[in-house]
Amino acid sequence: MFDQLTVVNHPLIQHKLGIMRDDQTGPKEFRELLKEITLLLTYEATRHIPTYDKEIKTPLVKMVGQCIEDKKVTVVPILRAGLGMVEGVLSLMPNASVGYIGIYRDPDTIQPVEYYSKLPSVDENTQLFVLDPMLATGVSSSWALKVVKKAGAKQISLMCLIAAPEGVRFIEKNHPDVKIFTAALDERLNDHAYIIPGLGDAGDRLYRTK
Ligand code: URA
Repeated sequence: MFDQLTVVNHPLIQHKLGIMRDDQTGPKEFRELLKEITLLLTYEATRHIPTYDKEIKTPLVKMVGQCIEDKKVTVVPILRAGLGMVEGVLSLMPNASVGYIGIYRDPDTIQPVEYYSKLPSVDENTQLFVLDPMLATGVSSSWALKVVKKAGAKQISLMCLIAAPEGVRFIEKNHPDVKIFTAALDERLNDHAYIIPGLGDAGDRLYRTK
């Protein structure tokens, strides 16, 4: 149905996501599960990244091993809910660089407003992962993708926890060069642009702000 989308459908991920969706799950468990699921998503989302040969010596013989250039990996969480995904990526690629983009939606104009942006230097060889747990309308993610492209990134993936079809459609239309990875593709958005069934407001649940 969507060309650029990979739904990482694995029993471990679905099990953990079910607990996250449950409105009885508290912030500590929610944060831990988001980190764990992101780690599992990262496994799939990095399948395409290049490796180089490195000669190593086992206790028995010399051989050629494979390495990733994790210093060429950059993760960019969209503030604030994207922060909850950073540790999951870094636990697998500890040398990755981290940049930040803060975007909110103006309640009057409904347009995205960028209030913060701090990126490490990136270029066409950077493997860049934008992190946004809830891909709802796709407006914020699309804005963040524009920002990282303007900074020079060309190999870009968007990693989410839950995506709505509306958001995936928006990204595919505006960024046909970006791969999207998600743990679930939900049904739809409601009138307030919340994902149904979703899990509520990811930022509020991470940081207990409601
Ligand atoms: N952002 C969230 O945190 N939840 C949604 O359902 C949609 C956007």
